[in-house]
Amino acid sequence: MSSPKSRTRRSASLQMKTVLALETSCDETAVAILRHRELLASEVASQIAEHEKYGGVVPEVASRNHLVHAPRLLDRATHAAKIDLSNIDAFAATSGPGLASSLMIGASLAKGLAIGFGRPYLAINHLEGHLLSPFFGDGEVKPHVALIVSGGHTLSVWVRALGDYQIIGRTVDDAAGEAFDKVAKMLGLGYPGGPEIERRAREGDPKRFNLPRSMLDSANFSFSGLKTAVLYLLPKLQGDYLADLCASFQQAVVDVLVRKTIAAAQEHGADLVTVSGGVSCNQELRGQLQESCEREGLRFKSAESWLCTDNAAMIAFAAMLKLESGFVSNVAEEIDPNLALG
Ligand code: KG4
Ligand code: ZN
Repeated sequence: MSSPKSRTRRSASLQMKTVLALETSCDETAVAILRHRELLASEVASQIAEHEKYGGVVPEVASRNHLVHAPRLLDRATHAAKIDLSNIDAFAATSGPGLASSLMIGASLAKGLAIGFGRPYLAINHLEGHLLSPFFGDGEVKPHVALIVSGGHTLSVWVRALGDYQIIGRTVDDAAGEAFDKVAKMLGLGYPGGPEIERRAREGDPKRFNLPRSMLDSANFSFSGLKTAVLYLLPKLQGDYLADLCASFQQAVVDVLVRKTIAAAQEHGADLVTVSGGVSCNQELRGQLQESCEREGLRFKSAESWLCTDNAAMIAFAAMLKLESGFVSNVAEEIDPNLALG
């Protein structure tokens, strides 16, 4: 006969759901398996090498690569998690925003698995995946201002609760990561540009070049003026300038992101600020945002570095929180390349 203690333990484990998620919104193929808050597997196959020779992501190449990588990653993830697909409780995929032909691969696979195993399907917004990633392993999404900075998006969001989002500001032109990538290209550095610029900036003087901080009076963001300022400055420079230029450019981006995020938090009476997305890997951004939050009496949370760039663990986590709150999608739900948040 089982003791009350072991019965409690068994009923708790019975309630623990296992979600498998696929992320194929752009040039990363990813599969993750999450049991309640425990990450059992997270596999990411980057396609950077395949796209580098074209100077950017080619949608046709991306979707073909997702088709090659996804089944292999599914195998690797289930093997690493020591789980059979028949024991997964729900299948999730990123349904937008992103490249249509890429989104379709992950969503079709997840839908097929959901139908085949008679389990629920969850369509997850990629931006919500990033937004919730600072809470990974946690579960309680407290009201806060979220800064999402990636290669395709720059958003500040007033988060009242899980699923209750109000956009405060967004970029009117380039995303922050896009600005890093474009400036890196101008400087003859590799792709993705963010890590390349950050590495050189470590040795540089961020005050040497006075670059513009655009739209400081607005809640929205603009980075194309900054990119153009670097373009016009470059022909005038001689000698050893690379590290100083990288540091000055990076500081201009960080200044704008930090000032607007603190202003948004104060305006909404938030006491918590989060940052997520690929650009939040940047140590200067994380450090300076944290310092400013502490100075202003705000709490600060960032996604762990491995969760900042595109991955399926953040999609599995968003799906898990939604599943636990009773949400499932219809398998007939289509992908949406322009899917909005909120
Ligand atoms: O979130 P992510 O992987 O993909 C999108 O959803 O777009 O973000 C990729 C972006 C790229 O633009 C890349 O240059 C930028 O994140 N990034 C960085 C750093 N690491 C990645 N930007 C600045 N500093 C970094 N260390
Ligand atoms: Zn992303």
